[in-house]
Amino acid sequence: MTNYKRRDFLKNGAALAALSGASAAGVLLPATLAQAQSAAGKIRVGLMLPYTGTFAQLGVAIENGFRLALAEHGGKFGGRELEFFKVDDESDPAKATENANKLIQRDKVEVLVGTVHSGVEMGILKVVRESGTLHIIPNAGADAATGGLCAPNVFRTSFTNWQPSYPLGDLLIKRGHKSAVYLTWKYGAGEESLGGFRDGYSKAGGKILKEMFLPFPNVEFQALLTEIAALKPDAVVCFFAGGGAAKFLRDYAAAGLKGKIPLYGSGFLTDGILEAVGDAAEGIETTLHYGDGIDTKRNNAFRLAYAKTFKLQPDVYAVQGYDAGLLLTAGLDAMKGDIANKAGMIKAMENVKIDSPRGPWTMSKAHNPIQDIYLRKVVGKENKVMGVAHKALADPARGCKMA
Ligand code: PHB
Repeated sequence: MTNYKRRDFLKNGAALAALSGASAAGVLLPATLAQAQSAAGKIRVGLMLPYTGTFAQLGVAIENGFRLALAEHGGKFGGRELEFFKVDDESDPAKATENANKLIQRDKVEVLVGTVHSGVEMGILKVVRESGTLHIIPNAGADAATGGLCAPNVFRTSFTNWQPSYPLGDLLIKRGHKSAVYLTWKYGAGEESLGGFRDGYSKAGGKILKEMFLPFPNVEFQALLTEIAALKPDAVVCFFAGGGAAKFLRDYAAAGLKGKIPLYGSGFLTDGILEAVGDAAEGIETTLHYGDGIDTKRNNAFRLAYAKTFKLQPDVYAVQGYDAGLLLTAGLDAMKGDIANKAGMIKAMENVKIDSPRGPWTMSKAHNPIQDIYLRKVVGKENKVMGVAHKALADPARGCKMA
């Protein structure tokens, strides 16, 4: 290790000295020198996340978690530091390819970390599948990213939209709920979460009475809640997240439905918003790959470090960002900071076992976590873990053919 570092230092030092001489003389740099300069310089990391809009808090939590993991590693990778380039993607799919290109073409990032919104993710995928840029998805569940559009350079540290919703079907039947209404935003994540729920619920013998949608990020729930009251399903199931989820929980209670028709969802419904919603969330059961109260040394240490650093409680988004940092670290450590060795980076990132606050997980062949899905229940300000709803759940990765 010491030997490597000294050799590396000498090599880079010599290259830089030669470089400055060449530049001063106005001479064009030979390719080898340009490469040596980039090897010696900082690793260029792009962050494409929402910092405004209904998912703004999610973007912040992801970046916090990501930076925490990197800082815990000492901030250096094979002797190289990281340089960050940031874009606020506003959760706006219409601007997605332009924003991804800003990072890749203008800023020349060597790895792009993002994003939250599945529709924006589809735009990023288009760009990185063409450029071959290393890409780590710290939230967006778009099934295609590790399904029909899977690619060697695309990794995810979060979930597919199918994954946390699938175990809900079984749960509802165990609770005796034979009929349900599903309610969500009309976009990829909502539709695919519904798909996961439908798979699990129909297999378990449940019947979906109606599927209801409103445009993203609309929060005018009143008419739909009135319709639900008239339909009288055994249960209501939904996918909402961020500010929209907080508003939905308050409206559900205000409409008098809480306590009358039990409400379930993938755990995004109650994650990161409990401070804001208070009693309206109490007792709600959800399924997700994380829960605040996972009582392990790993999770407790993570929660303490996060709270100390950011003066905030972490949530599932912070964990996914943290794990994106662990994944990148695993690749960079294996390659001693040589991120340009893409084949080596990919191989190292494929073979990881991530020691996550959520519990250890491995990377599927399609580059998505194989992970436990927990049953959680809101108790006070906590998503309390009540058990494991599905052990080591892998997404079916429909249509993934890795090139
Ligand atoms: C998504 O759009 O994929 C998405 C957004 C927010 C979540 C989960 C999934 O909490």
